[in-house]
Amino acid sequence: MIETRLATVSLENPDVQIIAEAAEVLKKGGVVAFPTETVYGLGADALNSEAVQKVFAAKGRPSDNPLIVHIAVRHQLMELAEEVSEKGERLAKEFWPGPLTLVVRKTYLVPEIVTSGLDTVAIRMPDHPVALALIEEFDGGIVGPSANLTGRPSPTSANHVMEDLKGRIDMVLNGGPTDIGIESTVVDVTLDPPLILRPGGLHKESLEDIVGPVRLASEEEFLRRSPGTRHRHYAPNAKIVLVDREDVEGLKRALKEFRQDGKSVGCIVHSPEMASVESGVFFKVLPAPIDFFARYLFRTFRELDHEGADIILVEQVDEGGLGTAVMDRLRKASKA
Ligand code: TXA
Ligand code: MG
Repeated sequence: MIETRLATVSLENPDVQIIAEAAEVLKKGGVVAFPTETVYGLGADALNSEAVQKVFAAKGRPSDNPLIVHIAVRHQLMELAEEVSEKGERLAKEFWPGPLTLVVRKTYLVPEIVTSGLDTVAIRMPDHPVALALIEEFDGGIVGPSANLTGRPSPTSANHVMEDLKGRIDMVLNGGPTDIGIESTVVDVTLDPPLILRPGGLHKESLEDIVGPVRLASEEEFLRRSPGTRHRHYAPNAKIVLVDREDVEGLKRALKEFRQDGKSVGCIVHSPEMASVESGVFFKVLPAPIDFFARYLFRTFRELDHEGADIILVEQVDEGGLGTAVMDRLRKASKA
């Protein structure tokens, strides 16, 4: 066990002292969790294999699941990327800082442990004042997987990070709850058309406005190109069961059956039809729009865990826009 220091940082004006302290921890090869606009990340010096190893160890992450390197200024991209395609350049210019991760061919500087031996590296510039201040002060790329124990829902608050990683990392920067609530969109721009390896906070439609058609990877391509995605993901302790949108009868039936088995059943719904089925602490209504649902999804998983749910019934959302990313997470969580 190590002592984990929790420090609150103001968003308007990230406290110079605390940021300098956190950057110092990174320089010494330590591990610091930091807020981004998507979820909290677990930071370490991306060019220091030993530091990166600590991130894998703290999360209990399998070594075949590569990490994203976070940067704060464009010239850092050129140190890490051997080449960036023209479409990759256009996407970076348009959407960075933001919830977009680009997979590009890596330079020899990036250690194998970061990329799990792949010849590509995933890079993103987060849109968050604390993350940017930390990276700038550290003056180099930092790895940033979501700051949860492997398999658990990604953390959207500093409390979630402490819940999973207290005693396993050096420091947590508390910048309050995150805005988007699900992770960045990962796009392989070594391919043409670019290939979405993980749908996320930036919509396919927005990418296509800038570079024309992009493809969403098939299940088989996911496994081949982004090996880590086969592992159990995003799941609370409770078992996730998906229910069709607006299927009031289906929801009532499932509630009855699981309760007959003696289970305590939580629900997460959004449509007005489903919202009126029950009420109480186990019955969470996350009303439309979809960005609200996304922002609160992982947090609500953790809440229902704390409240002791064995099963969580979740009303599905429509695909398209952020809905595609939400359904991706729901499907993966329900596979657990
Ligand atoms: O929003 C986010 O992306 C958050 C915040 C903290 O920035 N980070 C995050 O990292 O979600 P993580 O490690 O939980 O997810 C990284 C994803 C994984 O699906 C991994 O397989 C993929 O990126 N990935 C990383 N490097 C890759 C590479 N070289 N080729 C293909 N996929 C890669
Ligand atoms: Mg993750």
